[in-house]
Amino acid sequence: MKLVIGGSTGFVAKELIRQGLKNPAITSIIARGRREAPTPSEAGNSASKFNSIVVEDFENYSESVKKEIENADARYSATIIDYRASIFTIRTIAVTATKLKEIPFEQTVKISRDYATYAIKALDGLRNKQATHLRFIYMSGHFAPRSLAEVPQQLKTHGTVDAGLLRGEAEGLILKYGRESNGTVQSCVIKPGAIDHLSREKKETPGLPHIKLDDIAAALLDQTIHGFEKDTLTNDDMIRIGQKVLSGDQES
Ligand SMILES: NC(=O)c1ccc[n+]([C@@H]2O[C@H](COP(=O)([O-])OP(=O)(O)OC[C@H]3O[C@@H](n4cnc5c(N)ncnc54)[C@H](OP(=O)(O)O)[C@@H]3O)[C@@H](O)[C@H]2O)c1
Repeated sequence: MKLVIGGSTGFVAKELIRQGLKNPAITSIIARGRREAPTPSEAGNSASKFNSIVVEDFENYSESVKKEIENADARYSATIIDYRASIFTIRTIAVTATKLKEIPFEQTVKISRDYATYAIKALDGLRNKQATHLRFIYMSGHFAPRSLAEVPQQLKTHGTVDAGLLRGEAEGLILKYGRESNGTVQSCVIKPGAIDHLSREKKETPGLPHIKLDDIAAALLDQTIHGFEKDTLTNDDMIRIGQKVLSGDQES
């Protein structure tokens, strides 16, 4: 299967690429970002599965980018050329909580919501030509309410109610697209808490759960490959799935 990762240079995307290259179920990885994503140093022979694409306009996929995605398996996998294969996408592009104050809100709306809704439509268009299904994951966050009634105190305290509601709205749009596709587009939202790794200082926010980077990446790949347990996966769901995969209880 071919995996498209939106936001190829980010913290989570790098771990997805690292684990994805080792996974035999994934025949090609197309990493899309505004900057080149380096091939992981330990990739070895699987480096041939990796294709980093620099995208200039995230609301208008150029013909050349579309071609790269359409042809990915043909060009980058010697053994599997399956034009009926589905497209699998994990969307990590967003303005994360720590960067919200650096960016005007209109930009945040574009990056965290509009780029994702454009992507699901554009990739669905590609699916019509050469694939059977599109499976699409939108990475959101633990504090992303889908209505005013659900706004948690933490967002009020940090002055980030609008940003939280924006992510909740994006979740709703991505799920709606899947629901209205007659089963041809499967969409899923994941709502992690703080994602931890040794390279980062661990910070505590009241009410915000934690998950390890390798657990979340393993869970994301598992759900992309095997299908979604449900349309919205919580932090606890992702820990459970990721740890099961990494402990070897389940084929990855
Ligand atoms: N990290 C966490 O603890 C955490 C917790 C909960 C939820 N999440 C969610 O998980 C997802 C991934 O998080 P992350 O920590 O991997 O984020 P990250 O390291 O900040 O990466 C975000 C990605 O989005 C790209 N991006 C940002 N602004 C862009 C723009 N204007 N145009 C194009 N690309 C842009 C970044 O590109 P550049 O590298 O070029 O900036 C990067 O590839 C996000 O949706 C985030 O909200 C993260």
